[in-house]
Amino acid sequence: MKLTLHIWRQKDSNSEGRMVKYEHTKVNPHMSFLEMLDVLNEELIANGDEPVAFDHDCREGICGMCGFMINGVAHGPERGTTVCQLHMRHFKDGDVLYLEPWRAKAFPPVRDLVVDRSAFDRIISAGGYVSVPTGSAPDGNVIPVPKKNADLAMDAAACIGCGACVAACPNAAAALFTGAKISHLNLLPQGQPERHQRALNMVAQVKHELFGSCTNIGECEAVCPKEIKLEVIARMNRDYLRASWTERGDAIRIEE
Ligand code: SF4
Ligand code: FES
Repeated sequence: MKLTLHIWRQKDSNSEGRMVKYEHTKVNPHMSFLEMLDVLNEELIANGDEPVAFDHDCREGICGMCGFMINGVAHGPERGTTVCQLHMRHFKDGDVLYLEPWRAKAFPPVRDLVVDRSAFDRIISAGGYVSVPTGSAPDGNVIPVPKKNADLAMDAAACIGCGACVAACPNAAAALFTGAKISHLNLLPQGQPERHQRALNMVAQVKHELFGSCTNIGECEAVCPKEIKLEVIARMNRDYLRASWTERGDAIRIEE
């Protein structure tokens, strides 16, 4: 297969970036998208050119390191699929592809297709953990968890922190990511003691990191490789409202 690739090249965050065109003639349909770029990079290195920088680690869809836009779609055309799990058989001989990094003020460029997503780490540091002393690992089923909550928490915990939701959102909002991280702890018994403080702190950090506000567009859910549902945003908003009203001493009743 042959592909025409237009790839965003940018030396560092202080340099101007631009699209550079490459004719890639050694694409095998069995390659993953990242393997296709590996082959391109081998050619570039052999010719004395700089290889294209892109983030990756597990290449199994579980670590959240990979991700860029392919023809304007975060992680490319296959739903529920990270770019490392996307295979070239989903493309046609002669296709023209435009590869760009995530674009969001909170994700400054590092190089080529790599952006700095440490804003997500700081959101997790603000409350994405359970800080009570827990001792050694308890036996399974010692703490009963309602089946419905266990399932919903597990679904939310599937978020791999890739940032596609932010890149796809016209507001560059981090609501799906933050909602997933808040939900997966706030649905479990272990998450209850810090439930309200967690919502307040993590949402405050989101604002501090210059992410935009959610206006319920839903692009995030459409591109999320782990198919995290918009409900996590509603759950985050309910917990945040409950926490702020409780802080102010207002009497409240919000349905779960
Ligand atoms: S919610 Fe989905 S798109 Fe957003 S960071 Fe998590 S896995 Fe990636
Ligand atoms: S490289 Fe780990 S999810 Fe893609």
